[in-house]
Parts: sequence; C-alpha cells; structure tokens
Amino acid sequence: MTTPALPVVTTVIDLRETVGAWKKQGLTVGFVPTMGALHEGHLTLVREAGQQADRVVASVFVNPTQFAAHEDLGTYPRQEVLDAELLASAGCHLMFAPTTDEMYPEGFSTGVSVGGPSEGLETDFRPHFFSGVAVVVAKLLNQVQADVAVFGEKDYQQLMVVRRMTLDLDIPTRIVGAPTQRDGHGLALSSRNAYLSEDEIAVARRLNGVLAQAGANAAAGGSVAEIEAQAARSLLEAGFAMVDYVAIRQAGSLAVFEGDQVDTPGRILAAAWLGKTRLIDNMAVAAVG
Ligand code: PAF
Repeated sequence: MTTPALPVVTTVIDLRETVGAWKKQGLTVGFVPTMGALHEGHLTLVREAGQQADRVVASVFVNPTQFAAHEDLGTYPRQEVLDAELLASAGCHLMFAPTTDEMYPEGFSTGVSVGGPSEGLETDFRPHFFSGVAVVVAKLLNQVQADVAVFGEKDYQQLMVVRRMTLDLDIPTRIVGAPTQRDGHGLALSSRNAYLSEDEIAVARRLNGVLAQAGANAAAGGSVAEIEAQAARSLLEAGFAMVDYVAIRQAGSLAVFEGDQVDTPGRILAAAWLGKTRLIDNMAVAAVG
C-alpha cells in the first residue's frame, strides 16, 4: 500500500489555518523542526511526536542565520520531494516548508540571545550558531503553536538551549528530547554523514566508542580534565584530523564540574573533524558512586 501524499504549506497563514482547524476539533499537535535531508533519526522524532500528539507538523527549512559565511549553507543537502515522502511514511500530517523570505522578510531585525547552556562548547567554535537557532526555533514554535515539540539529543547543547529559551520566554510548547539514533556501528545518524567517504565513515564510527570509554572512566571517579584530554588524543589517534572539543559537563545546565569529578549526572560532548566534515556526538555519564 502506498502512503498518501503529504500536504505541504509554505506560508504561516496556511500553516495556522490547518493547525487552527485541528485545534477546533480538539486535536493536540506535535512538531518536529528540521533542516531537511531527512534520515532515520528525524523519522524517529516524527514517530515520537505522533506518540505524544494527535497530529504532527514537521518543518523543513535550511536556516541561513545559523550558518557562518564560510560554512556549508550553499551545499547543505536539499531533497524536499523525498523529505515529504519520508515524513508521510513516518506518520507526519503536514510539512511546513517556508521560503527564506517568509521567515526573514525585508526589514527583519530581531535577535534572540540565550545565555547559560549556550556558553562554550559549540559557541567557542561557531559563535553565530545558537543565536541563529534560537531565533528560528522561537519563530517556528510561535508559528506552529504546537502542544509539544521533539528535538534530538544528538544536538544535545541545542536541546538544552531550546529548553532554556522556552522556559525564559514563556513559550508554552512542551519540549521533549529523543535519544540519538545510531547506525549498526554506533555512528550517530546525521545529514552531514552524506559528506563522508567510506574511509572516513570507518573513522567516524570510532567516535562513539571513545566517548563511551571516557564516560565510563569519568563515572569510575577519574579526573574530568585528564579524561577529556585523553579522549581528544584517542580521537586523533583513531584518524580524526582535528578535535574542537571533548568536554564532560553537568547534564542539565552544561556547567563545568568545579571539583574535576562527575558528582552529579553528566554528559560527555565532542566535536571533531574528518576532512571538511565536522561531526558532533554526546552521551550520558553516570555520577560517581
Ligand atoms: O537541529 C536542526 O536541524 C536545526 O538546528 C533546527 C532545530 C531545525 C533549527 O534550524
């Protein structure tokens, strides 16, 4: 049996008309924001939204404000027709695919700046990133007005920033984090994996193991600083060209562990380069004891 075609809207007026009609019928609405180039990881988020709400909206918008001039905005993979088919197959009810002009019309002048969990890590290497994410996610949440929105833990710092922002700005949509989907060798699924050669994929698959070992060492009581440094060396030895960071932080706030030990639940996060591709990954670290 073929999946029926997915309705696609490109304007906020049309989006609100459909969502408004659902709400009038007493239906709840779930939302999954994406930049397209969908893979199984995104589809898991859509299925999760379908568990949490009666209707699911997914947005597909490659957000220019979260890319720096030298980054891959121009080459970011785009496949809207296939994305609509994949979303339909995962139980999505509506795709919102706005143009850049719809999201950022002439004269657009507003920024959203989140402190706390956005400090350090990604921000040290991509200083523009979270202001771009925060503004587009704030807009999307206001546009869709969903009851619940699902974000992947793959972008763990982003999830923490979105949680902080919705709390601080009284945005009523409930934010749910969904576990990272991995291939059979532990590589976190990512649209940017499409850039990797076969040899690079073999190296990329080592990232998850290095983080798991480092997390286990930290949970066993090792020095956070020493474990971070050792994990970065292991990534270089595994074949990564450069390591932006390996960091073990407090799971909720992403604050550093002042005492150099994981004394409350933690998270290990890393970003490293293979050729021109930057990979990120993270996982939970149990508290010592
Ligand atoms: O995680 C992403 O794909 C993007 O950062 C998001 C949340 C869709 C905002 O553009």
